[in-house]
Amino acid sequence: MSYIEVTYPTEKREFYRMLDSQLRLYTESEPDITAAMANFSSVLAQAFSGVNWAGFYIVRGGELVLGPFQGRPAVTRIMYGRGVCGTSWQRREPIVVEEVECFEGHIACDCNTHSEIVIPIRDRSGEIWGVLDMDSVTPGYFTDEDRDGLTDMVKIIEEKLGGAV
Ligand code: SME
Repeated sequence: MSYIEVTYPTEKREFYRMLDSQLRLYTESEPDITAAMANFSSVLAQAFSGVNWAGFYIVRGGELVLGPFQGRPAVTRIMYGRGVCGTSWQRREPIVVEEVECFEGHIACDCNTHSEIVIPIRDRSGEIWGVLDMDSVTPGYFTDEDRDGLTDMVKIIEEKLGGAV
């Protein structure tokens, strides 16, 4: 499959409508969760011009382990309750950080990052299976609309969970 470049609308609702169709296009026929997450990260990196890191951390016992992503090399393990990712896991809710330096315990991976959003991903029993993490070089880049939009987008991954991972 070759990637066909698209122009994303600036209006957020339209943007997320197109993002949903792009994410489904490049993941829908793929039952392997790792392959699907790899393309999911790539589509996110194409869609968000201000994003310097987009990818997944997956729950393995008491910590999060790095999954497929786009961006610079990152920390591979994050303990429960640590950093923005581990805190989102603990709180079981999305976290939007306007300025990462102001988030106590933030784990820095790329010194260019200013803002961050983390969205929990649930398995079929409602347990936190992993998180989607996105970073931006722009302070305050992610809004509540992005929190809601990305919470909808991760349903594409959640729908694939349930069988053997
Ligand atoms: N900043 C994250 C760590 C992961 S990197 O941003 C890719 C955190 O504080 O959990």
